[in-house]
Amino acid sequence: METFIANNVSQNHLQIPPQPIAQQAIHQRQRRYWDARVYEEVRGDNWSRTNVDNRIDLQGWLPHLKQLPRDPYVDTRWKRMSWFYLDQSGEPRVLAGCPMAQGGAFNDADTMADKVRHYAPLEDQFIQRDDVSSFIKGWADLWDIQPGEPILMQINGVRGDELTDPLQGQGIHKDGSQFLSVLVINRENVSGATSSLSFDKQGRQEIISADLAPGEILHIKDDQIYHSVSSLKPLDTSQPFERFIIIINCRFNDQFQNRILREHFPGAVLNEW
Ligand SMILES: [Fe+2]
Repeated sequence: METFIANNVSQNHLQIPPQPIAQQAIHQRQRRYWDARVYEEVRGDNWSRTNVDNRIDLQGWLPHLKQLPRDPYVDTRWKRMSWFYLDQSGEPRVLAGCPMAQGGAFNDADTMADKVRHYAPLEDQFIQRDDVSSFIKGWADLWDIQPGEPILMQINGVRGDELTDPLQGQGIHKDGSQFLSVLVINRENVSGATSSLSFDKQGRQEIISADLAPGEILHIKDDQIYHSVSSLKPLDTSQPFERFIIIINCRFNDQFQNRILREHFPGAVLNEW
C-alpha cells in the first residue's frame, strides 16, 4: 500500500477513505525497534543479521568493558551476566542472584557443562542506561517474549595476544534456549572470530559465515539453528586483540536451567515439561 501523502488531499480528497485499521497497524509496526525485514526473517528463515548501532550508543557501552571481571570458569575470558524479565507494563526488571546452568546436552565444554555457574552481575550504571533498557524491550518484542519470562543477558569477550578459542571447546552448538542474539560491541586488532550458523552440528549445512563488525547483531532461533565462532588471534602480533559481545537468550529448553530458574524465581514463566 502506498504511503499517504497529505498534499494530495486537495486533488483526491473524495477518493481517499479514512485510514483503515490494517493500515494503522502497518504504520505502528514501522515504528517498532527493528526493521520490518528483521521480523519477517526471524519468522520465515529462523535467523536474521542486522545492525543496531542506530539504536544504541556503542561508544557509551565501551567503558563498561574495562570493568568486566575475569570469567571464573574460562581462562582469557571476561564476563558479566544478569537475568531480567518484563513486568506487566513491559518494563525490564532485574532477577537478581540466579546462576547460569547448562546441561551437558547443550554445552560440550568440560569446564561448563552440568555445572551451576555464578558470575558478577551487569553493572547498575549499564542496566540503567536508556539504550540498554530499550534494547531489552526491543529484543523481547522481536520474539514476542511474555511478562515474567526470564531473559539472560551476558557481556563477554576475550582479550590477549595469542591464538584463543572464545568458546573454549564448545564448538558448533546450541545454547539450550529458543531465542538467541549475539551483538558485537567491539573488535580491535582481531583476525578470525568468524561467526557461523548451520542447520547441523557438523557444520556441513552452513547458513552464513561472517566476521561481524561492532554494532552488528545475529538473531537466531536457537532451537532450530546451530552457531559457532572460530578462534581468533591478533592482526598485528605486536599488539593485543580484544573482542566483546552481548549474548541474550530467552525461553530455555534446557530443563537443568529451568529447574535452577524455578528455584530462584518461583513465579517465573518457563518452558517446562
Ligand atoms: Fe553459544
